[in-house]
Amino acid sequence: MHRQWNLSVIDSPRPVVKLEHVSKRYGAFDVLKDINLSVLPGDVLAIIGPSGSGKSTLLRCINWLEPANSGIISVGDVTIRCEEVPEKSRLTALRRQLGMVFQSFNLFPHMTVLRNISLAQERTLGRSRKEADAISLNLLDRVGLADKAYQYPVRCSGGQQQRIAIARALALDPKVMLFDEPTSALDPELGLEVLAVMRELAGSGMTMIVVTHEMGFAENVSEHTMIMAEGEILEYGPSREVIRNPKTERARRFLRAVNDR
Ligand SMILES: Nc1ncnc2c1ncn2[C@@H]1O[C@H](COP(=O)(O)OP(=O)(O)OP(=O)(O)O)[C@@H](O)[C@H]1O
Ligand SMILES: [Mg+2]
Repeated sequence: MHRQWNLSVIDSPRPVVKLEHVSKRYGAFDVLKDINLSVLPGDVLAIIGPSGSGKSTLLRCINWLEPANSGIISVGDVTIRCEEVPEKSRLTALRRQLGMVFQSFNLFPHMTVLRNISLAQERTLGRSRKEADAISLNLLDRVGLADKAYQYPVRCSGGQQQRIAIARALALDPKVMLFDEPTSALDPELGLEVLAVMRELAGSGMTMIVVTHEMGFAENVSEHTMIMAEGEILEYGPSREVIRNPKTERARRFLRAVNDR
């Protein structure tokens, strides 16, 4: 009996991202209210919900672009209590494990695509230029843009620029990728290119948290979906169940609005 119990403890994977009672205020406004969330290694979580519900703030709190006011945030083996002011080295250790892709790609216009991907590897991981460039070229190939390495970003479409931004984030070997509406600034067809790269990434076992309005991605690629409204988690569960059979009236209203668009 004992042995079985021990084994089950060893077998259960530890969350790679864990939020416990995380709250965030802007002045008197509660943007995030007591958020509890666990993301297991290899899980793909879609976060959906109306505008202003706190989705971006949640992602920004996970990597400490915004400090939360209370609660505990763990990424990998780094745990930070939000009431405390964390040492810089711990913030760096936390952020090292996270790759972030925003709606706006923020590539450096004066650098080639290759330089854009290699620079942070040299600065933050201490890779040599040769080593970094080899990794960048590999990643460009992976996102279908091997031929763009020596171009400048202005010569690339929005969808291409977003795929470059994904390659740039991947180049730093993150444990978890955070995406904040990566396709919403793109024409639908260019969005599809980006979604294809994200689907491949999910298939490769990357842990991903994706804020998105793409219901197809949420339903077909993400294992789990979470619906947020007014700073709270309204629903969380296997994607199909949450999207097809929401339990709360607020979530049903949101999903109807999405479907009617
Ligand atoms: N720096 C800030 N100062 C004050 N209020 C803020 C700040 N950033 C965000 N907010 C407010 O917090 C709430 C949540 O914003 P957030 O950007 O997280 O929403 P969201 O769910 O990502 O919305 P969207 O779908 O429009 O991107 C909004 O009401 C917003 O106005
Ligand atoms: Mg947002």
